Amino acid sequence: MKMVVLIVLGVLIARTVCHTITLLDVPRWADPRVEAELRCFYAKQPLDPPLHSVKWYRGTHEIFRYTPQEYESRAFNTSGVSVTNSSCDGAACAVSVRPEPGTAKYTCEVSSEGPRFAVDRRSTNMTLAVLPEYDPLITGLPTYVNAGEQALVNCTSDHSLPAAMLDWFVDSEPQEDPVITGVTHVSGADGDGLRASWRTLHVYPDDYATHRGFLALECRATLPTRPPNVRSMAVRLYVESRPHISSPMLSKTSKSSATRLRCVCVLWTLMLLARRRVPLLVQ
Ligand SMILES: *[C@@H]1O[C@H](CO)[C@@H](O)[C@H](O)[C@H]1NC(C)=O
Ligand SMILES: *[C@@H]1O[C@H](CO)[C@@H](O)[C@H](O)[C@H]1NC(C)=O
Ligand SMILES: *[C@@H]1O[C@H](CO)[C@@H](O)[C@H](O)[C@H]1NC(C)=O
Ligand SMILES: *[C@@H]1O[C@H](CO)[C@@H](O)[C@H](O)[C@H]1NC(C)=O
Repeated sequence: MKMVVLIVLGVLIARTVCHTITLLDVPRWADPRVEAELRCFYAKQPLDPPLHSVKWYRGTHEIFRYTPQEYESRAFNTSGVSVTNSSCDGAACAVSVRPEPGTAKYTCEVSSEGPRFAVDRRSTNMTLAVLPEYDPLITGLPTYVNAGEQALVNCTSDHSLPAAMLDWFVDSEPQEDPVITGVTHVSGADGDGLRASWRTLHVYPDDYATHRGFLALECRATLPTRPPNVRSMAVRLYVESRPHISSPMLSKTSKSSATRLRCVCVLWTLMLLARRRVPLLVQ
């Protein structure tokens, strides 16, 4: 019984003598064009001793130390990475670093005042992203597509680290490919570990009631840096309004869609005729 009480007391004391790190916020992928901000948040229980120090490490090198009792923040310049800015207080400590190529492990270590100088630490990796050199490229765009038929377009993003995620938009609305499950395909890594990606989209003009002779297609390539690196390419897919009734079944075949197609065809024909008439009337 005494043992149990001691253990419970021990656990309670161990739990209450030390600041605990509540969040280590380091970008997984750092944008090479900007400094990365690393943030460490910690909390103090009512019975904890005051904060003694907050240290940041890159690998095993200490790069920064904040000691609130001495009102001091120090950057160490030994590992080649210099801290360019910092902002620390009793609840959080943020440092800015210019990231180096490759992957580095960053550690935040928080210690409380004596007698125990108890320490809590957390680590995470940050990798310098390699941005694609070019905008994504849309290929396979036909000169025009007949209503009732489909177009297959392909978007390719240049090599990057990590591989870009691709998203398709038609008239600004995000799209899933109705034929192929809409995922970004990623190539194998090249010598530098970079990967290209591609994603297709089958476009059925029938699915978009509002097109004005064309559909605006956009492919967006996103790298999950902070903030995200986004590049895009936009093209117009011209839609021939007079459908070829003889080959309507390239569309998703079902009786209802065939019926819908016929209705839409009639509508378009009427609209086309109406549009043709207008200039005549004006003249
Ligand atoms: C760190 O060292 C580099 C050269 O090694 C120097 O250019 C830079 O100013 C130093 N930074 C600080 C904060 O001392
Ligand atoms: C340094 O950080 C502070 C607080 O995060 C920010 O207000 C300030 O603009 C930063 N200075 C530079 C030179 O980045
Ligand atoms: C960090 O990267 C190293 C090597 O680059 C790897 O061994 C380790 O498992 C990574 N750690 C985490 C938490 O991803
Ligand atoms: C899309 O383009 C990539 C190359 O950029 C190619 O590897 C892939 O096979 C193409 N996909 C289709 C379905 O044509």
